[in-house]
Amino acid sequence: MQVHPDAEEVLISEARLRARIKKIAAEISEDYPDGVHLVTVLKGGVFFLTDLVRHLTVPNSFDFMAISSYGTAVESGEVRITKDLDESIQGRNVVIVEDIVDTGLTLAYIYKNIERRGPKTLRVAVLLDRPRRRIADVPIQYRGFDIPDLFVVGYGLDWRQKYRNLPYIGVLKSEALTGNG
Ligand code: PRP
Repeated sequence: MQVHPDAEEVLISEARLRARIKKIAAEISEDYPDGVHLVTVLKGGVFFLTDLVRHLTVPNSFDFMAISSYGTAVESGEVRITKDLDESIQGRNVVIVEDIVDTGLTLAYIYKNIERRGPKTLRVAVLLDRPRRRIADVPIQYRGFDIPDLFVVGYGLDWRQKYRNLPYIGVLKSEALTGNG
C-alpha cells in the first residue's frame, strides 16, 4: 500500500476499517429490522456514513447537519447550525453517525439537539473513540475503534482540511503538523 509521505504511520488500515464497518452495519441491521434513519455531522463523518449504508440490509435513509464550532464555542453553547436537517426526525429510529468523538462536546450538542426533536429512538455510531480528551459524556452504542491520544487524519479526518481522502487512518509526521501547507 502507498502511504502518504506526510504520514508517520498507518494506525488503522483500509482493510481493518472495512471489516469493522461491515460488522457495525450488521449490528445496526439486526437492531433495526424496520429501518433506520442516519444523521451525520459534516464533514468528517461522510466517509464512515457512505461505507456504513452500503452494508446495511434494512431500509435506510440519511441526512446531514453542519455546525460551526470555534474553540470552546460548543462548550459554551454558542453553536450555530450552518446546515440543518432536510427532513423531520420525529417518531423515527435515528442513529447519529460521527467519525470521531474526542472531547465529546460536538456529539453532546448534536445529541441534545436531535433528542429535542422527538425521535422514536436515538443511538450513536462512532468510528473512532479517543477517550483521553473526554469532557462531555455521551452514550455510544456502536463504536469502531478506541484510539490513543494521537493526532490522526484520513478517512474523513483532516488537518486544515487536508488528508480527508486518505483511505486509512494515519498519524501525521510532526513536520506536517507544523507546516503551513
Ligand atoms: C470533528 C469530528 C467531530 C468533532 C469531534 O469535527 O468530525 O464532529 O470534531 O470533536 P469533539 O469530540 O472534541 O467535539 P470538526 O469540527 O473537525 O469538523 P469536520 O468534521 O468538518 O472536520
